Amino acid sequence: MDSTFRDLLKKGDGIFKDKSALSPHYVPDVLLHRENELRKILTCLAPLVENKRPTNALIYGKTGSGKSICAKKAILKLPDIKEASVAGIYLNCRVYDSRYKIVQKALTDFDSSIAQTGHSFSILYEKLLDVLDKKNTHAVLVLDEIDVVKDLDSLVYTLTRANDELKHGSISMLGISNKISFKQKLDARSRSSLCEEEIVFTPYNALQLQSILSQRLPLAFQENVVEESALNLAAAIAASESGDARYALTLLLRAGELALANDSKKLTDKEVEAARLAADEDKARELIGSLPEHLQLVLYALSIVSQDVQYKKLVEDDGEKLYFSGEVYDRYASMCKKMGKEPRTARWYREYLHELEVLGLLVSVHSGKGIRGQATLIKPVYPAEKIRKIIEQNLLM
Ligand SMILES: Nc1ncnc2c1ncn2[C@@H]1O[C@H](COP(=O)(O)OP(=O)(O)OP(=O)(O)O)[C@@H](O)[C@H]1O
Ligand SMILES: [Mg+2]
Repeated sequence: MDSTFRDLLKKGDGIFKDKSALSPHYVPDVLLHRENELRKILTCLAPLVENKRPTNALIYGKTGSGKSICAKKAILKLPDIKEASVAGIYLNCRVYDSRYKIVQKALTDFDSSIAQTGHSFSILYEKLLDVLDKKNTHAVLVLDEIDVVKDLDSLVYTLTRANDELKHGSISMLGISNKISFKQKLDARSRSSLCEEEIVFTPYNALQLQSILSQRLPLAFQENVVEESALNLAAAIAASESGDARYALTLLLRAGELALANDSKKLTDKEVEAARLAADEDKARELIGSLPEHLQLVLYALSIVSQDVQYKKLVEDDGEKLYFSGEVYDRYASMCKKMGKEPRTARWYREYLHELEVLGLLVSVHSGKGIRGQATLIKPVYPAEKIRKIIEQNLLM
């Protein structure tokens, strides 16, 4: 093989042994702290040993709480069942986002010749029932991120009704969602079909995250690279931000990359802090990118004003500078005019400031009496220079 390809194949690098052990797709052999949840899922599947349909279940909990990985582990256990023919089918509903695509995918797992599209839904559905019936097979569909399925009520209805038509075999569903309010969107009938059982995943605490990170260390890093306090810091940060194991793993990966870039042989608190800042920035980028145009323009005006020495500012106790919201409005309005856009009224502007504050993108303070009557003072939460660049890339390029 050409040596460039060999280099590219290299999984480890300097301080890393194998980065992929920190990737969100890596499935560890042992799943820590989820014994109860896994047991609950397996309990739903247990009727299979009597050749009966499993209990449908809805699994929910915040992002990074281990729902997907737990469901995948449960599917890996299905071959242990010798008493019945069982097919576990994992579907990411971001990819399979309609009743048609889901039934088609389930069917192609049995018969790949059917893969080409063009068949009507009822033909695919009949074929699926036919296959299950003939083989007396129980299909367990794991519908991950089920909330994005467009025609969810009809999917649940169809798959539930299928069991009335099947003489042999069955179809059951394990739905997974991190939208807590999602259940309310289902109509009453599909809700009771899908949620025969509900399994809630609670967020991990700092200690649990520590052990999840420790489990990956010997796989991902060379020996003695990661300082204990750095690992604990990554766990503590992720615990304080909703107990997300994915975030904790990402922090460690990024911190490792930063250490590597700095030719450092150790991963310390410093790299974890820097990784957190970088992750925050990514979040800000995503958040700002999803804002309507005028909200971005208001934020842009604030970032310009806070970089321009000619504007008045107040300096708070902590050394942070605050700017007069009226001056930011004037800047916003003149910017709009230059761009040939109609600026929103001052009343709308106040609404926008409120929205940006709720989103955690700016902070506003009301001055006491004395400073120009009662002024509103604002400052950006993220560094002005960064905000300016993000919005320029989004809107102005
Ligand atoms: N108990 C655990 N032990 C080891 N690794 C875990 C554990 N829980 C989660 N992880 C890891 O954390 C990451 C996120 O887990 P997972 O994908 O299961 O989260 P999720 O609850 O499905 O989140 P989302 O709602 O965002 O899809 C994965 O890389 C997974 O390997
Ligand atoms: Mg998931």
